[in-house]
Amino acid sequence: MSPFTVTRLLPSDDTTAALHADVRRGLGATPKSLPPKWFYDARGSLLFEQITELPTYYATRAERDLLSTRAGDIAEATGARTLIELGSGSSSKTRLLLDALPHLHTYIPVDVSESALRDAGTVLARERPALTVQALIADFTNRLTLPPAPGPRIVALLGSTIGNLMPVQRAAFYALVRELLEPGDTLLLGVDLVKSEDVLVAAYADQAVTGQFNANVLRVLNRELNADFDLDAFEHVALWDARRAWIEMRLRSRLAQTVKIPALDMAVSFAEGEDLLTEISAKFTVPGLASELRCAGLDLARWFCAPAQLVGLALATPVRSLHDCLHATGRSTACIR
Ligand code: SAH
Ligand code: AVI
Repeated sequence: MSPFTVTRLLPSDDTTAALHADVRRGLGATPKSLPPKWFYDARGSLLFEQITELPTYYATRAERDLLSTRAGDIAEATGARTLIELGSGSSSKTRLLLDALPHLHTYIPVDVSESALRDAGTVLARERPALTVQALIADFTNRLTLPPAPGPRIVALLGSTIGNLMPVQRAAFYALVRELLEPGDTLLLGVDLVKSEDVLVAAYADQAVTGQFNANVLRVLNRELNADFDLDAFEHVALWDARRAWIEMRLRSRLAQTVKIPALDMAVSFAEGEDLLTEISAKFTVPGLASELRCAGLDLARWFCAPAQLVGLALATPVRSLHDCLHATGRSTACIR
């Protein structure tokens, strides 16, 4: 068996404190919202895997197909010896990359879901005795301290998980990645592309599995905070916001109700029909993606996309200096956050 370790970067106390802060802020605000990372306890991670099998949820299949034809190009372009995968989940599509990278020494999956990391890492370590697997339980929106591992490295965020971050969070994420990347390292980003509203909404509207995934965040709050959300009192809703180019998943209160959250000493009132925003899933265009990467000092070096244009894979590398960045883009310092 290859070396397989699981390290928790944040103490569980910090995770609890983060949940408390997010719930206090999100349910105390108008409109109400919760960050999507709290979907992913063990049940949420399994429900996400079921979503990837739904006929209407094209994103995982399309990215798998693209990886199966382009993993060799990615290997050649990067020469990676280490693959750091943020939001790795089941690592199932990752196998295509692992197989294609001839010099790969270390795989570092990073996820908030401990169960997903343990399940995926145990199998990978058994299957690939020569690979070092160092899993990290961590929130990739925070600065990460990575274990030493040989370069060049790929930092990957697949499955369009980037789309689950609000624009300001995306900019902060790119800045963190830019800091992590050493010369020769590459960011590999899997993104979902803007397409017809029918196709997009159908991918998120399914009640049976996606509805349960959506409501899972309420189960997490019931368990972790002793809250008394009645899951049947909320309806799963998926909407396309064309102006902002994102899907919104919401939980709509079926009636006027007050929910108690004893761990926070909080009572939260919902009007009938009031929505709780649980996730955005932004969709991209190539120029839009290139421009936001550039604003973070990253160059869209390669772009892979299949003829159906459902999803794409971007390879981005650090712009060498701020001067080059401004020169290459012709933009003003207004872009720099
Ligand atoms: N990359 C996989 C899984 C996508 S699901 C794929 O392409 O199929 C999103 C994954 O990101 C989940 O496993 C979830 O637990 C993880 N995740 C979501 N927000 C996160 C965060 N802020 N930090 C770390 N992991 C996160
Ligand atoms: C993980 N993430 C990219 C998924 C998405 O499509 O935004 C999560 C998801 N939500 C509903 N279905 C899938």
